[in-house]
Amino acid sequence: MRVAVTRSFPGNETDRLRAFHDVDIWPERRPLSSPELYRFAADADAAITMLTDRIDASFFDACPRIRVVANVAVGYDNIDVAEATRRGIPVANTPGVLTEATADLAWALILGAARRVVEAAEAVKAGRWVTWEPDFMLGVDVAGGVLGIIGMGKIGSAVARRASGFGMDVISHRPWALDDVLELSDVVSIHVPLTEETRGLIGERELSLMKRTAVLVNTARGPVVDQRALHLALREGWIGAAGLDVVVEEPIQKDDALLSLPNCIVLPHIGSATVATRRRMMALAVDNVLAALAGEPMPSVVNPEVL
Ligand code: GLV
Ligand code: GLV
Repeated sequence: MRVAVTRSFPGNETDRLRAFHDVDIWPERRPLSSPELYRFAADADAAITMLTDRIDASFFDACPRIRVVANVAVGYDNIDVAEATRRGIPVANTPGVLTEATADLAWALILGAARRVVEAAEAVKAGRWVTWEPDFMLGVDVAGGVLGIIGMGKIGSAVARRASGFGMDVISHRPWALDDVLELSDVVSIHVPLTEETRGLIGERELSLMKRTAVLVNTARGPVVDQRALHLALREGWIGAAGLDVVVEEPIQKDDALLSLPNCIVLPHIGSATVATRRRMMALAVDNVLAALAGEPMPSVVNPEVL
């Protein structure tokens, strides 16, 4: 059978597919446009896709042989799962293998935003380190504070676990209410998937409940936060700082207002970007496709009702 893989990955995990199937890997270092994707996967029986690929009814119409879609990401908001389910097509994601890498990056953003790490390093490069100053680049304490976790799943729990080393109290919106978590936390870290319920979950009202010194970190999906409201909150000092690995439109435009704020760190969606993690993600996608095409149980399927 034919497997279309929409990006080339580090490692040689796709060799295990080649032992059984014809494999085509999109050769370019950029995502396919939708028309390119439809041509590339037109006669494929399986697709290994990225979060940059839009997989919906038009895709399934254009690629009628598709029997399985394996997304190389834990999130699958790029896929119309309801549509796949209607057509009896299993959809796989990559839970578990990127939990620790993403939790590490959330902590990089927590510490980086609280202690102004990026801003301070930029100041050094710009020649603005004049002398040791009592009040230069003052941030807020992380250790001993309250960490609010929005979304206590695998990644949220891994972020919470790290907090014990910092002597922090951890609260989450279950059993607490979201408003209480926002009011009480020194750091708020977002780990919910993007769904219709979580889109715009953190807006003007929610940001205004937070402490004026609070740090907001988002390593989940950009649209969970209302980005215009966040810009206002950071500019007007409703909250102290933000660290974002995800934004509403990726990549963010170079002239986006968020990038002009000194108290906002924006990273290019690198939560799972370690060599070992990316290999494990592709390995799991390959395992899912091999299982699906062989009629065996898939290791991680998000719509098991189709099987
Ligand atoms: C990355 O954002 C993922 O969902 O794995
Ligand atoms: C800082 O370097 C200190 O010694 O307190």
